[in-house]
Amino acid sequence: MTEKHLAVIVLAAGEGTRMKSSKPKVMHEIAGLPMLGHVLSTASALGAAHVIPVIRHERDLIAEYIGTYFSNATCVDQDDQPGTGRAVECALDALPSDFNGAVVVTSGDVPLLEVSTLEALIEAHVDGGYAVSLLSSIAEDPTGYGRIVRTADDEFEAIVEHKDATEAQLEIAEVNAGIYVFDSAVLRSALAEVDAANAQGEKYLTDVAAIALRAGHKVQALAVEDNWQVAGVNDRLQLAEVSAELNWRICEAWMLAGVTIVDPASTWIDVTVSLGQDVTLLPGTMLHGMTTVAEGASVGPEVVLVDTQVGARASVVKSHVKSSIIGDGASVGPYAHLRPGTELSADGKIGTFVETKNVKIGVGTKIPHLSYVGDAEIGEHSNIGAGTIFANYDGVEKHRSTIGSHVRTGSHNVFVAPITIGDGAYTAAGTVVRKDVEPGALAMNVAPQRNLADWVLDKRPGSKAASAAESAKHKK
Ligand code: UD1
Ligand code: MG
Repeated sequence: MTEKHLAVIVLAAGEGTRMKSSKPKVMHEIAGLPMLGHVLSTASALGAAHVIPVIRHERDLIAEYIGTYFSNATCVDQDDQPGTGRAVECALDALPSDFNGAVVVTSGDVPLLEVSTLEALIEAHVDGGYAVSLLSSIAEDPTGYGRIVRTADDEFEAIVEHKDATEAQLEIAEVNAGIYVFDSAVLRSALAEVDAANAQGEKYLTDVAAIALRAGHKVQALAVEDNWQVAGVNDRLQLAEVSAELNWRICEAWMLAGVTIVDPASTWIDVTVSLGQDVTLLPGTMLHGMTTVAEGASVGPEVVLVDTQVGARASVVKSHVKSSIIGDGASVGPYAHLRPGTELSADGKIGTFVETKNVKIGVGTKIPHLSYVGDAEIGEHSNIGAGTIFANYDGVEKHRSTIGSHVRTGSHNVFVAPITIGDGAYTAAGTVVRKDVEPGALAMNVAPQRNLADWVLDKRPGSKAASAAESAKHKK
């Protein structure tokens, strides 16, 4: 079959009432993409001439998502008439009138289906001369699914929805996966015959199978071996189960590609993430979005990386990092918060209880302890003292700080931006730097210390401090 003769319809118009959510069901995410994103990626990979998502509930939200990420797809709106059959009918109206190829139908809530499985279904459909081919599975718990009814000699007979099934039919373990290939002409004429005389008052797509059979066409239900691929998500329990399974599959693929994952069950990796060889992921690590981790880096335990690049052999421990770049051999954490725009160069360090934002940190520069660094550029091989604050905000505007290379700033400094500190400068402990510091200077503005002798003995007589001071004096 040529791709020109293929159309893929993706059902995504339902509300998903069982999710009990203000968000439409197909927009709930697993592994970093809405379920619909996974399904549309698979649909797009078939290279079909037409990819048609059918939308209705929250249509603007879904149409915008599709428009942004799947420019190959053409959304179609379902009208007031409910049901999967009606959804497909609406989509068919959007196809060119002379389209006579095969129509694949997938569901926006069946996210783990793989391209190869669809390709095999299409091949079996075309080679066997079928009018309708669908995937089924032998379910451990068939509750909620349509049941595949077969004749005594095991031939396909009909699909009966759970809500319409007899007691005996409810015992059937083989269920409809909601994934089909149809001959377009047969589909059109059978849909015209489908009514809504069922428990849900909906026009069921599933009725097409029995109607086509009655009209003398060949219909087959092929059971998949891998049930997860056809698992449908109707509530949040199923969402969690399918999400965990996909995550396991993603972890498995990375482990086989040379990544050490100490505890896959507590490691969550989006499909969009990319990992190098000999990366080690420690427990409690979550890698999201366009995150990349280069070879030999170690991430975790308990790290969240969002849209972040981690360089080769870098180490990130117990930290939260968003839209940042961590250079080769650099180290972050434990307990660091890197906010968007942080760029830590090679061999640099952002240490414990440090928050950074919109800052470029040069090669080998270290910010080891208890600091806030925002809107700044720091040169190479500088050291920022413990407890330093970059005061970037005057209540109205943000200002930038520029710190040179080989600078050593003392503990407990405040840099009041805008400020520039030259190469090789020092600052004393406790300095509030309000004026630029020229290269090589020592900045200090700490008031001389005064000790008021015997203040405690005078002002706090009888206190424990006073008696401690008293005995210290006698010891002298
Ligand atoms: C459907 C099948 C059922 C199958 C199950 C597999 C029908 C009648 N039943 O049931 O046999 O076992 O999938 O997961 O098809 N949708 C629309 N328009 C609508 C209604 C639904 O586009 O009017 C979309 C939904 O957004 C969803 C998909 O179709 O993506 C399936 O709808 P859902 O309500 O989940 O059907 P199920 O009850 O799961
Ligand atoms: Mg469903």
